[in-house]
Amino acid sequence: MLTVEDLKKGFGSGRRRLEVLKGIDLEIKSGELVALMGPSGCGKSTLLNIIGGLLEADSGTISLSEFNYGTKSPSRVVDVRRRGVGWIFQDFHLIDRLSALDNVTFSLELAGVPSAEAEEQAREALDKVGLSDRLDFIPDQLSGGQQQRVAIARAIAGSRPLLLADEPTGNLDVKSGHDIIHLFKQLCEDDGMSVLMVTHDPTLASMADRMLLLRDGVTAASDIRSAWGVDTEAGE
Ligand SMILES: Nc1ncnc2c1ncn2[C@@H]1O[C@H](COP(=O)(O)OP(=O)(O)OP(=O)(O)O)[C@@H](O)[C@H]1O
Ligand SMILES: [Mg+2]
Repeated sequence: MLTVEDLKKGFGSGRRRLEVLKGIDLEIKSGELVALMGPSGCGKSTLLNIIGGLLEADSGTISLSEFNYGTKSPSRVVDVRRRGVGWIFQDFHLIDRLSALDNVTFSLELAGVPSAEAEEQAREALDKVGLSDRLDFIPDQLSGGQQQRVAIARAIAGSRPLLLADEPTGNLDVKSGHDIIHLFKQLCEDDGMSVLMVTHDPTLASMADRMLLLRDGVTAASDIRSAWGVDTEAGE
């Protein structure tokens, strides 16, 4: 479903050059929930941004469903952003003045879906995340967990194959955080979606199907111990 091969990305030039991703290889199957961990500044968001078509890599390839990109500039991967991936952020990024239903509908309209159809799809997505009884609530009238559900509805509406979640539970209490991961799992199982989720929380990461650790510019399969940097092989 998603294959990333030998992806490299650095910033700056000359002596200030910083190589962040040094050859990332990873694969995510349809229906898989994968947690991505790693120290602050190791390049997790950078990797998500490239997979999400918001940033181009220096070299390497990405294939996601029918899309092939990696080094293409963001202006050339509009379709990836419209139909390939859905985004979820730590701070929800909802529009304050719009109801839950309108938040989801609006983003579908922006992606070119006609209004009536957009509203239909938005209702469906909000139903999937368990918010059918909150359609008319604006973000202020919703709990953090509910706001994140609206964001998830927005991300899954229009049935995109891959969800990219950058610390989706960072602003939530423990219970709401767990609920969000359960929702991800349910979406993976029921709809065959795949989720790539950045988290600093080992408990949440351990709920995923698989954990990847990003360190020193490359990814490795991981268990909790190495994700915490207590891997004895590191010898540090
Ligand atoms: N546009 C940019 N220009 C220059 N340097 C950048 C840019 N974007 C990211 N970086 C650098 O790349 C490195 C990786 O940043 P990134 O945001 O991907 O880390 P992260 O793993 O998501 O960290 P965190 O866990 O703190 O969110 C950092 O050193 C950062 O300063
Ligand atoms: Mg980050």
